[in-house]
Amino acid sequence: MSRGLNEILDKATNSHNLAERIKKNTQGTEDIFSSWTDSLFVSLNYSNVLDICCGTGNQIVKYATNKKVKNITGIDISEGSLNFSLSRLSELNSTAMIDLKNISMDLFFEKRHQKYDLISCFYGLYYSKNIKKLISQMINCTEDGGVILIVGPYGENNASFFGLIEEHYKIPDLVKKSATSFMGDDVLPELSMQTRVQMKTLVNKIYFYSSDELVNYWRATTFYNFTHEKAVRLDIDSYFVKHDFFIIEKHIIAFIATKI
Ligand SMILES: C[S@@+](CC[C@H](N)C(=O)[O-])C[C@H]1O[C@@H](n2cnc3c(N)ncnc32)[C@H](O)[C@@H]1O
Repeated sequence: MSRGLNEILDKATNSHNLAERIKKNTQGTEDIFSSWTDSLFVSLNYSNVLDICCGTGNQIVKYATNKKVKNITGIDISEGSLNFSLSRLSELNSTAMIDLKNISMDLFFEKRHQKYDLISCFYGLYYSKNIKKLISQMINCTEDGGVILIVGPYGENNASFFGLIEEHYKIPDLVKKSATSFMGDDVLPELSMQTRVQMKTLVNKIYFYSSDELVNYWRATTFYNFTHEKAVRLDIDSYFVKHDFFIIEKHIIAFIATKI
């Protein structure tokens, strides 16, 4: 694997960076992501769930507080994030059986053929080394009538910030693709072949009120580059001389794929 790709994956699986980004993404004055996520589940019936790339537990916590859910399996490659999830779960009185596994999604299905009535993956599928194979395995392990729920960025996601950064250096193709075109180009065609796909979208505006806030957010991303920090910071500082806030729009799409 190239050094660049390894660095991106290290940043992606760093539980501290993940917690920092999520903190900001859910702090914005228009925090509608959580309620939008809840609305995705409303019409779904499920009691046996697999959450892929469960991270620090944002989806697992929702499943654990749903009384209809009996079994929850969460998988993630980051042990630190799983420990974080465990501490959140310990504060809930969930009656569900919860099993968190420290394993790569590309290996998880190799020896398992158990079926789930909901398989979810929020903001993680783009780290797969073989997305076609993984989606096919996910479909095989979904009950008939069950649902695969995949949520991720698309389209004009992050455009204002990418524009600012790319005045200084090129954001790695892998990062750019995962943040914009992956859901439409790589996920949708695979799902559409074997499931009935419904789509829902959201634009969530994240507000930054100072240079420090924006720079700290950038530092926790997979496209942070220390070499360019001084120059980018100068640009951000001059932006805030003229403006009170900077907005990053998160363009989000959900594929709700029912196995037929
Ligand atoms: C952006 S986070 C999303 C976490 C969570 N789903 C959420 O929405 O808050 C992506 C997660 O994918 C995990 N990850 C990256 N590569 C992985 C892999 N190959 N297998 C399993 N998890 C992986 C990272 O450790 C990280 O926790």
